[in-house]
Formats: sequence, structure tokens, C-alpha cells
Amino acid sequence: MLSHLVYVSVRNSTCTDEEIQKILDSCNRNNGGIDVTGVLLYSGSHFVQYLEGDYKTIMALYDKIKGDDRHKNVVLITTGKIENRLFPSWQMGSKPFSGSDVKFNTEISNEETKLFQKILSGEAQEGNKALNLMKKFFK
Ligand SMILES: Cc1cc2nc3c(=O)[nH]c(=O)nc-3n(C[C@H](O)[C@H](O)[C@H](O)COP(=O)(O)O)c2cc1C
Repeated sequence: MLSHLVYVSVRNSTCTDEEIQKILDSCNRNNGGIDVTGVLLYSGSHFVQYLEGDYKTIMALYDKIKGDDRHKNVVLITTGKIENRLFPSWQMGSKPFSGSDVKFNTEISNEETKLFQKILSGEAQEGNKALNLMKKFFK
């Protein structure tokens, strides 16, 4: 079943920019083979990752990622079924952000800014709210 998952985590101080590049290399190496696509947002202090693919596959990948010592306090924000992929051709798109200040490609409302802050603070989100926000980072 095609599904998505969004989590937030705290970037460890040992996770340098070089390590971020290594993470993205792993994504490029592995995600195609398991048919997983998505995006990774990162700041000096946080990661927000959106994964899409077969439910069991993204759950297994999430379990593996959770154990990575380049981050901690991994919190699931949302997961659920989707009809279509948001990022069908991206093994893992990526974008830096600072604090809660994100450069969106489309206009976002105050409500959406608040939603992103809630995601960063680890507050679970219902329905497709988090997913729709992810889309706005890149489209
Ligand atoms: C924030 C974060 C996101 C990650 N996302 C992925 C991912 O989407 N796919 C992946 O294979 N590894 C991801 N990793 C890395 C895995 O934890 C693990 O190091 C990697 O899959 C090992 O595979 P490799 O030996 O091919 O590098 C991520 C790690 C972190 C810290």
C-alpha cells in the first residue's frame, strides 16, 4: 500500500555538513532499489524527513534511520495512505533551513508557518497537513 511518513529529529552536534552529504549519498544508493522517494529538510539543529513508498518498506527504513547516531529524539509526525507520490523522481530531495525560517517556493500562510513550528516541536499531525506542507517546500 502506497504510504507516506513524516518525522522530525534533533541533529547531533557530531553531524557535520560532510555527514549530511554522506546521508544523501546513502539515500541515492539505497532508496531507488526499494522504491522509496522523498525529501529531507535539515537545519543546524533539526531534520524533517518525508518518505513515500510501500508501507512496510518505509516503516523498515524508518526503523533503520531511527537508530542512526547522527540524530536523536526521532518523533513520528504523521503516516498514512497516499494515492500518488509527491516526489516520484526523487530518491531524496534536500533543502536546508534555519530555525523555523524556511524558503518556500510558494506563498505560505501564517497558519502554515505555525504548522511547521508544531512539526519541529514534535507535535503529531492528522490527515495530510504535514504532507501538503512538504510539497510547498519544493513546488
Ligand atoms: C536524518 C537521516 C535520514 C536518513 N535517510 C535515509 C534514507 O532515506 N535512506 C537510506 O538508505 N539511509 C538513510 N539514512 C542513513 C541510514 O541511517 C544508514 O546510515 C544508511 O542507510 C546505511 O546504508 P549505507 O551503508 O548504504 O550507507 C538517514 C540517516 C539520517 C540521520
